[in-house]
Amino acid sequence: GHRYTGLIERYRDRLPVHDDTRIISLGEGNTPLIRLNNIPRELTREVEIYVKFEGLNPTGSFKDRGMTMAVTKAIEEGSRAIVCASTGNTSAAAAAYAARAGITAFVVIPDGKIALGKLAQAMMHGATVIQIEGNFDDGMRLVKEVASNTPVTLVNSVNPYRLQGQKTAAFEIVEELGRAPDYHCLPVGNAGNITAHWIGYSEMAAKSSDDVTEACSYCKGHCKYAGGGMVGNRPHMVGYQAAGSAPFMRGAMVDNPDTVATAIRIGHPQSWDMAWKVREESGGWFDECQDDEILAAQKLLAEKEGVFCEPASAASLAGALRDIREGKIQEGSTVVCTLTGNGLKDPDTAIAQSVIQPAKVPAELDAVSRAIRDNLV
Ligand code: F0G
Repeated sequence: GHRYTGLIERYRDRLPVHDDTRIISLGEGNTPLIRLNNIPRELTREVEIYVKFEGLNPTGSFKDRGMTMAVTKAIEEGSRAIVCASTGNTSAAAAAYAARAGITAFVVIPDGKIALGKLAQAMMHGATVIQIEGNFDDGMRLVKEVASNTPVTLVNSVNPYRLQGQKTAAFEIVEELGRAPDYHCLPVGNAGNITAHWIGYSEMAAKSSDDVTEACSYCKGHCKYAGGGMVGNRPHMVGYQAAGSAPFMRGAMVDNPDTVATAIRIGHPQSWDMAWKVREESGGWFDECQDDEILAAQKLLAEKEGVFCEPASAASLAGALRDIREGKIQEGSTVVCTLTGNGLKDPDTAIAQSVIQPAKVPAELDAVSRAIRDNLV
């Protein structure tokens, strides 16, 4: 039989591991690519929309793809501790993979403005949680400094192995569709994931790894990106930010980012230059979504398609739907939206935005029957 044992085993020929590398995996990757049925029917333009549900990774977000690689390499290099700054998902993944590897995780998170589920994960996996009186960008600045003079491995996406792991999402999509989509839409914070996808698509589109002519400028030589000589298609990469945290829209860093989508409450993206290059090379664009648009898309997806993602993730669909309506995304095209995290991560925001509250009735047949009959359409 075939047992799926994670993305490093699956793609080991395209990842920086050796035959004797001890792989730290929780079976991440291999997430469903779900074709939307009901939402596209309400659009006036014919477009095929798929969502790549990364919320079904072991810790509930795409970070697991990067973390299996980063922790595997940290162990190979003899590290006994990892550190990250996080808006929540990276800390959950770091905590889990450190537990799996038997090493220590330190996670630096903003005081408040972190979704409850993510905090629960970091605590359950036994990470040392450091809440700072500051935001993600402050945390990032601090952990870079600490990692430069302390024996701890930094596992934020500035660690090139993170992007190597995350590029495999693009491999899966191309394998499943038989080609790359025409557009790939993602929520953008640090812009690591949009960059990782571009690396993955570029590797898939390159003639073969024999055609590698130059070191990749994105990952400093870790991948097999040919930097030209493409035979397959690559998508336009489209990145959506929350309006209150949209440095790519402003064209400059944002000092006091704010948004209900706390995962992408980031004003100083770490992959700034690479993300601009991705936009340029892919013929894509950046745009922003208002918080109410993001929440509306999250709710729409949950109600119409049965897919529950966290708010930040819904920015990809919110933006894509707008760009389809406006004709920026061409009629007849295939669109993939990455749903980066699971809706269960942030129960508070979900409950707060639910207009219909649970009906409270006595535990009697009459009352329960009436509550059902009254609501049958
Ligand atoms: N979506 C979710 C759910 C995220 O958690 C993040 C980033 C992003 C999108 C943006 O990805 O940074 O690669 O552009 N979360 C990080 C964290 C910052 O700490 O969990 P990006």
